[in-house]
Amino acid sequence: MSFINLINIVGARPQIIKASAISRAIKTQFSDKIKEILLHTGQHYDKELSQVFFDELEIHKPDYNLGVGSAHHGRQTSLMITGIEEILLKEKPDCVVLYGDTNSTLAGALAASKLHFPVIHIEAGLRSFNKNMPEEINRIMSDHASTLLFAPTDSALKNLMREGFKPENSPPYTIDNPKIYLTGDIMYDNTLFFAGLAEKKKSAFLDVLGLEKDKFILATVHREINTDDISRLEAILRTFKSLSEEFTVKFVMPLHPRTIISLKTNLADLYKELSECRFIKIIPPVSFLEMTLLEKTSKLIATDSGGVQKESHFFCKPCLVLRKETEWVELVKNRTAVLVDADPVKIRNEFIRFYNYTGELQYPRFYGDGRTAEFILGEILSMVDKA
Ligand code: UD1
Ligand code: UDP
Repeated sequence: MSFINLINIVGARPQIIKASAISRAIKTQFSDKIKEILLHTGQHYDKELSQVFFDELEIHKPDYNLGVGSAHHGRQTSLMITGIEEILLKEKPDCVVLYGDTNSTLAGALAASKLHFPVIHIEAGLRSFNKNMPEEINRIMSDHASTLLFAPTDSALKNLMREGFKPENSPPYTIDNPKIYLTGDIMYDNTLFFAGLAEKKKSAFLDVLGLEKDKFILATVHREINTDDISRLEAILRTFKSLSEEFTVKFVMPLHPRTIISLKTNLADLYKELSECRFIKIIPPVSFLEMTLLEKTSKLIATDSGGVQKESHFFCKPCLVLRKETEWVELVKNRTAVLVDADPVKIRNEFIRFYNYTGELQYPRFYGDGRTAEFILGEILSMVDKA
């Protein structure tokens, strides 16, 4: 088998985390067959949204960083496309690997497909059926520019089939004859790999935050629909504050900078109230090992994050999903995650239900066996071999 050149494109926090599973599998099992080039668009640039993951997850320094930074969707995406295109023309990779649904994913898909480099989309087929979310547009466009599509769940695979992708396609695979797969989720690979390490390396972290195991709520809010709609952000955070006081339970919230900016700009009084409330702990974004520890030791999780929803499941924690819909539908069907939107009544009722629940919730293994990255790399090698 020949030695192939693979470009891994990352930009936002969860993509760096996801790419670490692929990088690790290349390093440990495919280093004689695959050369990885890591391209960071620079969509996330703050240390705690980017560098911390390179250090902690032992990913090598990006070979390229476009340093695109923050901007409106169109400008940010176009700067990425321009930068990615130049690198693709120079490196002429055998394939381009993309993760998830961010603007960096979309830019990679457009730049690579127009230059006829095969696009590999990891986390393909997910749909929220809400095109008001930028992620939904990014997912659909990226899937339809891809050659290999790795769907992490059965429902994601079915979404692709509904959109015309054919499971029976045979090699050689191309953008016009793409291959869809049902795989597990590489985030689960990571959780299995890092959960033990998190407890070993971050054992003092709960004490530092003044938290007791199983006695606090972990909450994150960062999606555009919640941060840029002030009434939603206010409803969510006021409900958290009142629940924390009523149940005398701590809420720890590692908040994305965009949430803090929105709070300071639009809800300064509420931000002050939250900062003064002894049950609310707003902290800067934490590292992946710290986050893993918080997830593992929390009582319940409330989030609008895709990744954190799944991690709540990996750690068998009930989850309040601060959205109207989710692309991780199996969690909701399983009734261990509940869509509470930004509705104070739903948040309150579901919080109380889970908080007081004494029975045993079931957390089936929806997301593979923790070896998804290896499977994906094997299929990429076979695609390049048969091209
Ligand atoms: C992006 C993704 C979202 C993903 C999230 C992961 C898109 C459209 N959205 O959202 O799907 O869930 O990443 O965290 O791609 N900012 C900083 N420092 C940074 C980066 C951003 O302060 O290092 C602030 C800036 O004010 C910026 C805002 O956050 O304008 C939004 O950043 P952006 O990268 O556009 O989107 P995210 O909200 O991070
Ligand atoms: N995460 C982290 N530190 C934080 C918040 C999240 O390491 O302060 C991790 C989290 O464990 C998950 C990923 O980031 O693996 C999810 O990213 P995010 O919520 O930013 O984006 P989404 O998954 O919604 O796209």
